[in-house]
Amino acid sequence: MKRFIDLLTDEVSAAFEACGFEARFGRVVLSNRPDLCEFQCSGAMAAAKTYKTAPVKIAQPVADVLAKKTDVFAEVAVVMPGFINLKVSPGFLSDYAGEMTSDARMGYETLADAGNVVVDYGGANVAKPLHVGHLRSAVIGESVKRILSYAGYNAVGDVHLGDWGLPIGQIIAELHFRKPDLVYFDEDYEGEYPEEAPFTISELEEIYPCASGKCKTDEAFKEAARQATMELQSHRRGYMALWHHIMSVSVADLKKNYDNLNVHFEVWGKESDAENYIPAMIERLKADGFAEESDGALVVHVKEETDTKEIPPCMLLKSNGATVYDTTDLATIVERMEKYDPRQIVYVVDKRQELHFEQVFRAARKSGITGEANRLRFIGFGTMNGKDGKPFKTREGGVMRLENLIGEINDAVMKKMTENRTMSEEETAETAKIVGLAALKYGDLSNQASKDYVFDVDRFTSFEGNTGPYILYTIVRIKSILAKYEEMTADRGEQEKNVPASETGSVSGVTGRAESSACAGNKESSEQDGCEPIRGMRKICCTGEPSEKALLRELVKYNDVMEGVRDDLAPHRICSYIYDVSDAFSAFYRDVHILSEEDAAKRESYIAMLRLTKKILEQCIWLLGFDAPEHM
Ligand code: ARG
Repeated sequence: MKRFIDLLTDEVSAAFEACGFEARFGRVVLSNRPDLCEFQCSGAMAAAKTYKTAPVKIAQPVADVLAKKTDVFAEVAVVMPGFINLKVSPGFLSDYAGEMTSDARMGYETLADAGNVVVDYGGANVAKPLHVGHLRSAVIGESVKRILSYAGYNAVGDVHLGDWGLPIGQIIAELHFRKPDLVYFDEDYEGEYPEEAPFTISELEEIYPCASGKCKTDEAFKEAARQATMELQSHRRGYMALWHHIMSVSVADLKKNYDNLNVHFEVWGKESDAENYIPAMIERLKADGFAEESDGALVVHVKEETDTKEIPPCMLLKSNGATVYDTTDLATIVERMEKYDPRQIVYVVDKRQELHFEQVFRAARKSGITGEANRLRFIGFGTMNGKDGKPFKTREGGVMRLENLIGEINDAVMKKMTENRTMSEEETAETAKIVGLAALKYGDLSNQASKDYVFDVDRFTSFEGNTGPYILYTIVRIKSILAKYEEMTADRGEQEKNVPASETGSVSGVTGRAESSACAGNKESSEQDGCEPIRGMRKICCTGEPSEKALLRELVKYNDVMEGVRDDLAPHRICSYIYDVSDAFSAFYRDVHILSEEDAAKRESYIAMLRLTKKILEQCIWLLGFDAPEHM
């Protein structure tokens, strides 16, 4: 559907033309003085320069034309020096909102022929527990991926595990130290290696920090670790077997943790996957003259004339022949081009890695690894800080494990819910998990990604204000009104036969995990449950009551907001939108008696608005990567 604001622009542009002025002056924007008007056009000021006259001499005749369009505008006023202040007619709003209700995507169109995109996020390192540093990548990346998929792309999320290099060598060296008799260290051994790993995840998590600590103090150990790394990279049999064990034990644990965050990857790629692509890539870059020798190393120079700061070359091989982070990332682009020919590769990584990606992106573009049609995008995120403004730590000052952080949030929610609880113990715990995850994710996503933010359990878990729980509370409230309404109409025996029960507000049992009412972008999934238009929807007929109208004005922004979110990959804009929608809903709910409304047409219209509000909120929280419970 055409954006609502563009429809208004069309009207005003036509009026400019009708008065003998160029249409381009008719652009309408949201009012920045909502106390005075809803929309505004300030084109007369610019037009006055072109036509060498006073702005009001342009604004007035245009306004006179607009005032006759009572089907579109309820009020048209000229304000000095030449602003045109506008209020839309309730009927025009109602028709637009009504049309949204009969569209599966509420007026937000999919991109035609969007193609593939790869989202590189998560980025956990094997053998290390997930800590809060990885939280933002997972949370933002999952949302970015959903935004792209809802836009119509085939979005491939790749966790791109850090699995290669020194940390693994350190673990192997430490294992050798602790258990020298393990068959993996016997160079003469030619048989099969055991299927069972010689360590558990908790041992592994203890071994790694111990080994990396030892490297700092113990030269001999450090050398052993370096040696083990080299031998691993030249595929020593026993070490490869150990590496496979490290991978499988670690990946199983990571999957569990990401699942708990409602973060899911299409591809469990690893840094080491790039290995297969490195030799050919280097040969090609050498042959084509892009790779050059520099102090014994092999690099691609990526400096540009216009640089205002020093951009060092992209490193392919160190002087000792070793590959580095630049090498694997460049080769991973080669791999992704081969597999997906993606329209975009989006990296959701700590912003401190920005320079690295700038080097790699430049090398990829310069050498033709990617072309014009393949956009490389870096979404760098800031740090999650504690209340002291420093990077978030445990009370003891250590690195906080992600599962403990989630536990802390869930406990806080649980406590709040227990205070005035009407649910069973079990349901409370289940609901606290859902609400806790929303609190955590919304607390993160409501900030612009590049900014640092303060992790504040009390604020994030509050049921009021710009928080996840407040949004969920709004949804739950709508669900409960809709459920009461269905009960009432069933009692009265006037329930329309064409409203399926699945649209009465109940989603999927207690957990609400089914994500049933949200839809992803791709064709297959738009056919999925809950993605059809809201059938049996009654006509929306706005009475003009201010808070009713205000809610509709929020709802009709949906496709406009979604287009901006898609172009800028900005989940925080979804948050501010649904916060506005929720506030508008609260005011509407305060001012309007929905269920006790005697006038059936009005009541049905309110219900239709509620359904649309709920559908928008549910789609938006799906994009953010969390769900709403049935009750709170
Ligand atoms: N594993 C890396 C880290 O912990 C992040 C990986 C980001 N993705 C990439 N393609 N380099 O810093």
